[in-house]
Amino acid sequence: MLSHSPITLTDAGSATYSAPRFETIQDWLDHQARQQLLRFITCGSVDDGKSTLIGRLLWESQQVFDDQLAALQADSRQHGTQGRDIDFALLVDGLAAEREQGITIDVAYRFFSTPRRKFIVADTPGHEQYTRNMVTGASTADAAVLLVDARQGVVTQTRRHAFLASLVGIRHVVLAVNKMDLVGYDKKVFDTIVADFTNVAKSLALASITPVPVSALKGDNITERSARIAWHHGPTLMGCLETLPVAKPSQNATVFPVQWVNRPNANFRGFSGTLATGRLTVGDALRVTASGQTATLAQIVTAEGQLETAEAGAALTLVLDKEVDVSRGDVIALADAPVEMTDQFEATLVWLHDEPGLVGRTYELKLASQWASASITRLKYRIDVNTQAHESCGQLALNDISVANLALSKPLACAPYDESVCLGGFILVDRFSHATVGAGMIRHSLRRARNVHRQALSITQVDRERLNGHRAKVIWFTGLSGSGKSTIANALEKEFHTQGKRTYVLDGDNVRQGLNKDLGFTEADRVENIRRVAEVAKLMMDAGLIVITAFISPFKRDREMSRELIGDAHFLEVYVSTPLEVCEQRDVKGLYKQARAGKIPNLTGVNSPYEVPDAAEFEANAGSESVEEIVRRLAALVASEKAVL
Ligand code: ADX
Repeated sequence: MLSHSPITLTDAGSATYSAPRFETIQDWLDHQARQQLLRFITCGSVDDGKSTLIGRLLWESQQVFDDQLAALQADSRQHGTQGRDIDFALLVDGLAAEREQGITIDVAYRFFSTPRRKFIVADTPGHEQYTRNMVTGASTADAAVLLVDARQGVVTQTRRHAFLASLVGIRHVVLAVNKMDLVGYDKKVFDTIVADFTNVAKSLALASITPVPVSALKGDNITERSARIAWHHGPTLMGCLETLPVAKPSQNATVFPVQWVNRPNANFRGFSGTLATGRLTVGDALRVTASGQTATLAQIVTAEGQLETAEAGAALTLVLDKEVDVSRGDVIALADAPVEMTDQFEATLVWLHDEPGLVGRTYELKLASQWASASITRLKYRIDVNTQAHESCGQLALNDISVANLALSKPLACAPYDESVCLGGFILVDRFSHATVGAGMIRHSLRRARNVHRQALSITQVDRERLNGHRAKVIWFTGLSGSGKSTIANALEKEFHTQGKRTYVLDGDNVRQGLNKDLGFTEADRVENIRRVAEVAKLMMDAGLIVITAFISPFKRDREMSRELIGDAHFLEVYVSTPLEVCEQRDVKGLYKQARAGKIPNLTGVNSPYEVPDAAEFEANAGSESVEEIVRRLAALVASEKAVL
């Protein structure tokens, strides 16, 4: 499988550049169109010289391009066409589509060409965000140029990037051993690095490794063979890039994620997007994946007019023969080759943020043009990039690569990443900061997602509410330890009880003695604590009760998760805003004293954060208002909310 170095690429090493001559602009345009496109990424450690290398590649190829432009300009004058403009427009479009398709934003795509090929290099600026940019830039790349500093040799970053490249499906790696000038162009240094890397790559699914000794700074072996590295008989870097095989599209299933519904007037309704994979032909029977509705493809409309057939990569608007329900985020496929829908899968997850990735926390997941809420349900293991060993882990740190189970709020059209980069690659986005916190590749959907179905029960929440004579709801208390949550919750329940309402109080200290006795006070444990409580509260609400929860619930994201799970209409957030000083003065359980003495590591408000709610439905300070008064106000609010049926 793995072809060891140096692999011989016919004629590549001797590639030199002379500007080709074209008789007409049409010849030049035809030549451009015939040229194959190679997409690649560059990666390596921070100081390996990536920028210099890209700059060098652009510069050295640009000269060729300049020549071509000069020829084109001369021809333009002679023939008076607009060939040059047309081609540039196409290029710009190509890049825009590329950005749309890429799974995130921080990647600049640079274009250059030689007489033999066109290239798009995903240039990933920024140092700290390196892994993130690499993963996101790599998903559509055919090859990776992996830079190694000749003085440093193979380091952890080299292993990480090689591993990530193979994870995202790159099969060809060019090992550019850079800064050869600084090691006296020593063949032995190069050979050692190649041997080390070959060893590392044994466990990776790479099809080829091509080692090239270079100096990006001095220009050795970039496009011109270097006399100073005469001992190297393999290709130059450019020669290698020009001859690497471009992956044939093996992903043939037709997948059209709808980016927007195009309805300029009452007579036209089309679905716009980019055909991710496969092909579409007018007359095809299509299926909207989520709803299962089918229709026939009546027209394929593009900016340049209508088409009979469209191939992957084309930006299209589809018109169907009948009205079907399609909205942004839907995926259209061929009716006889439907795409799987799932709401649970196992994935390889690369964590891209300083804030840890936690089991049970809700993130927004974007897959193709689809969005859903998602949470990690199980962290199976973390992969050590140096040894490939599987390690157990409780949470994810920046740059961790792990295998995890994820559950979504609704089924999405998905596929294993191996089968479809488009439907198998996803990102996780933080709900508040909107930062991309993780990127993932689906390994397979979980069978239990297919085998577990919701059982329809005859008696519903509404029936139980009618019998009880009041609405069910969740009153969610949040606030510091000792703020008075439990006391107010208890008094509120007594009040409801006298009103003949059916209630239950879920209290932090109580639940932690039973259901949640396995959980402590780390961030990860608190997230799981609140997740379970929210699920239990939801069940109790379904049973027709007014559920009162009293948990510190210090994190906004988790309270939001609870609100979403329970439903905004049934959720009443009560912020008990008693100031820390008051709580600490009371110190009913002596916890603050212990925390100040350094005996408790994660006490909320002292050495663990509390995120104040910004839109709680009710706020009360038990330091300045009596419990009776708070309960009176709160009961009145609940009553005013049409609490009685
Ligand atoms: S939460 O943060 O996960 O919502 P929860 O409300 O369940 O916390 O539990 C808080 C109660 O646990 C406190 O009222 C206190 O009695 C007790 N406790 C013990 N250690 C801690 C700690 N380090 N931080 C907060 N509460 C603690």
